[in-house]
Amino acid sequence: MNIIIQISYLIASILFIIGIKMLGRTKTARQGNAVSSVGMFIAILATVVQVEAISLVDILICIVIGSAIGLVIAFKVQMTKIPEMVALFNGFGGLASLAVALSDFWLNTQEKGIAVDSITGISVALSILIGGITFTGSIIAFLKLSGNISGRAIVFTGQHLINLILLISAISITVFALTDFSNPTYMVLLAVVSLIIGVLVVIPIGGADMPVVISLLNSYSGMAACATGFVLNNNVLIVSGALVGASGIILTQIMCKAMNRSLMNVLLGGFGQTSATGGEAADGPQIVVKEVGVEEAAQIFDSISSLIIVPGYGMAVAQAQHTIRELSELCEKKGVNVRFAIHPVAGRMPGHMNVLLAEANISYDKLIEMDEINDDFANTDLVFIVGANDVVNPAAKTNPNSPIFGMPVLNVEKAQTVIVSKRSMGKGYAGIENELFGADNCLMLFGDAKQTITKLVGELKEL
Ligand code: TAP
Repeated sequence: MNIIIQISYLIASILFIIGIKMLGRTKTARQGNAVSSVGMFIAILATVVQVEAISLVDILICIVIGSAIGLVIAFKVQMTKIPEMVALFNGFGGLASLAVALSDFWLNTQEKGIAVDSITGISVALSILIGGITFTGSIIAFLKLSGNISGRAIVFTGQHLINLILLISAISITVFALTDFSNPTYMVLLAVVSLIIGVLVVIPIGGADMPVVISLLNSYSGMAACATGFVLNNNVLIVSGALVGASGIILTQIMCKAMNRSLMNVLLGGFGQTSATGGEAADGPQIVVKEVGVEEAAQIFDSISSLIIVPGYGMAVAQAQHTIRELSELCEKKGVNVRFAIHPVAGRMPGHMNVLLAEANISYDKLIEMDEINDDFANTDLVFIVGANDVVNPAAKTNPNSPIFGMPVLNVEKAQTVIVSKRSMGKGYAGIENELFGADNCLMLFGDAKQTITKLVGELKEL
């Protein structure tokens, strides 16, 4: 029986690796998801048949309840709320690792009276420490993203010192726990300290830096699961945890590059503090904008030969991707070279824009990453910004006091003409003004993106 279980785990692990590889390309991402799901099903099945501590019926009841909750959440969640959902899922992953490791330790040392070996002891401590930090850190990230607490950086004097003291305490408690297995208090104390560390490392992180935090916490949840795999001696948990940990770290590095942050800053916490001020540009001179109507905008669209569309979070809110496809097809019929510029942190989750545009059947070849398209803006007749703000804010390049200074942004201002579709002069996620909107070559097309673009398409058809 054991050999069948181990072979099943091996198959599941291979499917996870193939699935993750496929997730790396937009074209194969959906199949990659399906392949990984099959792997997870095999892993769950193999685990369920070998569990002896609880009855199969109890396990099935839990699976049905858990799956039902997961299904309801997955069907109900709005695309713009996915990062919050990911934050919660990361948190529950961390909590599960903490709970499993702690209960396994308790069962062995207190009820069975077995002294655990040092590898298992260290694994228990790591599961509790990383799992606890992941749980409360993710809950704080969730509360910040959902607006239930301020998205701004919460900082106080001595914050880093307190974090350091807590970390040293955690290590000391672990040493005591490993030298005195008969006393479970140490592991419980470690859990409490790790839960406090989780809160303290995420509260000083400002709103605009949340993408990095979410991917880092994702990686932590994988590392915690991996450590729990060692506690339970479960190969598939070790492999899948390591995969999540490693891919989360790679994603974190991609996010760091996109936000121009160093990973050390993220690990130490406390970056993005300037966000707390709301940004220097907010106190700057009043921005005077030029408004354009739908008819006039249609005439501009009718006269161009090159167009770059820049989607942002507002496109997701308006669900304007389908009307944008209509607009792009119409322009192409008129002989316009149409491309989409994709900023790595546009929207609220990695790949957010790619997912929405793919849903609207916009060809992948037309979606060009920032690094590839940034030099082309200068040779482009028209840039059409749909609900993007921070990712096109030139302050990131020109204003050292801006909270987003240093973040690479799209060079939209270099195009001949820029039209911005948004509802008002509302700010973006970073909560700062955007002087682009007052630039000489920039025209504001106010209104909900979907409604405005639908009218624009109508006008353009008439011309
Ligand atoms: P934002 O800077 O958030 O700006 C979105 C703009 O969309 C707003 O200024 C808003 O202006 C407009 N908008 C909202 N609803 C609209 C509608 N129905 N129709 C038209 N416009 C609408 O978006 P962005 O440029 O995509 O930047 C993303 C930001 O989110 C960055 O700061 C990034 O760091 C952060 N972030 C990203 C992620 C990831 S991983 N992508 C995760 C968390 C946070 P009005 O209110 O005036 O309409």
